[in-house]
Amino acid sequence: MSSKVSPIPKTAPFAEEEIDLLNRVVGSASANQRAWLAGFLAGFDAASAGASAPQTAAPARPAEPLTIVYASESGNSEKLAGDLAKAARKNGLKPTIIDMAELDLSALASAKRLVVVAATWGEGEPPGRAARAYNELMSEGAPRLDGVEFGVLALGDTAYAEFCAIGGKIDERLAALGGKRIIDRVDCDLDFAKPAARWIGDAVKALTPPNTGGRVIEVDFGAKPTASPDADIFEAEIIEHVDLNSSRSDKETVHLALSFEGGAPAYEPGDSLDLYAENDPDYVDELLKAAGLSGDDKLRTELIRSRDVTTLSLKTVETYGETTGHQYVKALLADDQARKWIAGRQLIDLIVTFPIALDAEKLRALTRSLAPRAYSIASSRGEVGDEAHLLISAVRYESHGRARKGVASNYVAERLKRGQRVRVKLKPNKHFALPAGDRDIIMVGPGTGVAPFRAFVQERRATEAKGRNWLFFGDRTFTHDFLYQLDWQDALKDGTLTRMDVAFSRDTPEKVYVQHKIWERRADLIEWLDGGAHFYVCGDAKAMAKDVRAALVRAYADVKALAPEAAEQTVVTLEREKRYLQDTY
Ligand SMILES: Cc1cc2nc3c(=O)[nH]c(=O)nc-3n(C[C@H](O)[C@H](O)[C@H](O)COP(=O)(O)OP(=O)(O)OC[C@H]3O[C@@H](n4cnc5c(N)ncnc54)[C@H](O)[C@@H]3O)c2cc1C
Ligand SMILES: Cc1cc2nc3c(=O)[nH]c(=O)nc-3n(C[C@H](O)[C@H](O)[C@H](O)COP(=O)(O)O)c2cc1C
Repeated sequence: MSSKVSPIPKTAPFAEEEIDLLNRVVGSASANQRAWLAGFLAGFDAASAGASAPQTAAPARPAEPLTIVYASESGNSEKLAGDLAKAARKNGLKPTIIDMAELDLSALASAKRLVVVAATWGEGEPPGRAARAYNELMSEGAPRLDGVEFGVLALGDTAYAEFCAIGGKIDERLAALGGKRIIDRVDCDLDFAKPAARWIGDAVKALTPPNTGGRVIEVDFGAKPTASPDADIFEAEIIEHVDLNSSRSDKETVHLALSFEGGAPAYEPGDSLDLYAENDPDYVDELLKAAGLSGDDKLRTELIRSRDVTTLSLKTVETYGETTGHQYVKALLADDQARKWIAGRQLIDLIVTFPIALDAEKLRALTRSLAPRAYSIASSRGEVGDEAHLLISAVRYESHGRARKGVASNYVAERLKRGQRVRVKLKPNKHFALPAGDRDIIMVGPGTGVAPFRAFVQERRATEAKGRNWLFFGDRTFTHDFLYQLDWQDALKDGTLTRMDVAFSRDTPEKVYVQHKIWERRADLIEWLDGGAHFYVCGDAKAMAKDVRAALVRAYADVKALAPEAAEQTVVTLEREKRYLQDTY
């Protein structure tokens, strides 16, 4: 038997799996085959470089390291970190990707080159899992980064006042700690694909030391044909469309069951679906009228189907000022009043308040692509087969004297009917998955936050998981807003749901929320957690998720007689152990 040869060193500028692959091919190749390969690559190299003379191989040298850190909640930054690593490898660098959730800050100080891809969440906050390392980076104890070459790619949404705030703060902080910015930051909006790809190309070039790149042949082992962005979109038929609130509720929350002809996307409990909605035709008509473009049917169709015609960002106001020259809009910007003015307003307010004749191109330029909206999957394939269920709450409110409707939720609630079709795309979330079947789980999901927990409970039933399942649910009233009440009753009866605690805020004079129930049940809750239970929170990020976490910290302090700091540390440990998991929005 011949011994296994590994001629390609681990320091080669390839991913570990690629090095294994190369070793499998080159290691077992005959002398003849290797000679052929060497000649072929040298010739290929010369041909690609347009050179006429054959080149001789340079001695192998260790690839230069590149540290890539990503701070991500819904996976976009993580995906871009992967793209960046791939591009870096092709350019002769040796990338290491680190999730900021796992980051030990000393890794930054020892990095030679560093790229951070960071999303902003909440209202200008870091992604939940990245918060610990982010706070450490911002603290006085952060290590010096003298000489570390760095670049930051920021992801965000111009609809938020704190657009790309976290990327911006990280960029500033790295420089303040002595890092050397080697490429300017780019702040990307929701349609980030092109600007991010461009930035990645530029960053890799800027970060590659001279004489590292140049000679490298671009061979992408295992490369798939480039898929179009629409390749993963599924068309589903709506087979159930039911309002789960009573007719006397102030809310409308639609249970949507989707059926997939060729098989449902391979989703897991905890994943979401991105839903591609259309705009309200009445709103678009009003917008076109205000812009003096009512007769333009082609533009009308385009705006309804594919443009974001409601978001009003600072950038939109700036574009309006520039393209129309409207003096009041320019004054608003000059007086630094625009940011305040846009709060609670939409594009239509801008055009109605500051009217001026627009052509189709100018109006189009005020809009961006209409982004899909994410909805947690409320079913398990183990129980519903080729269906996927969603739970969608219609967003309706009034501001500045105008009734407003959320685009996607009202598309679903008001315009989609049983029998119609809708386009969706799977949005996996490996950070919000069920643990092993014998582990206990505690689920906190008020309002639509309960959706993934219906998937969890179905999955636990389908897999006959032995772990116990405890659900905290809350909404406004027991009678009118008890979402999936019958499902929970069945699950309690058949034993899949071990316990359920409910908090209906408007049934009693004093408002009761899930965090109050957590506090009430603290002794049992801590006992479950001591026994290894996983704790899940889904739903509102602004208040609920923070209040629930605070309640758990207080519960630890009380039950275990800990000082507040020690109780906080216990929850931090749960987070680090990935036993405190959140999916909030
Ligand atoms: C991972 C994930 C999972 C999700 N799962 C679910 C789910 O299971 N069910 C669900 O219903 N939603 C879920 N959402 C939220 C969902 O994606 C949409 O954000 C929501 O449906 C609103 O979208 P829309 O298009 O209807 O509203 P949009 O047109 O996007 O309008 C929403 C915007 O309106 C403004 N607004 C809303 N209310 C007010 C108010 N009272 N006053 C002033 N301004 C206001 C805010 O700027 C807000 O951002 C999830 C989100 C994420 C990220
Ligand atoms: C609930 C929620 C809050 C958000 N808050 C902000 C924000 O304050 N500022 C911003 O620029 N983007 C904000 N975003 C947009 C995200 O940063 C954007 O979707 C980004 O692509 C997410 O990247 P990720 O998948 O790596 O987490 C928010 C998105 C959601 C769903």
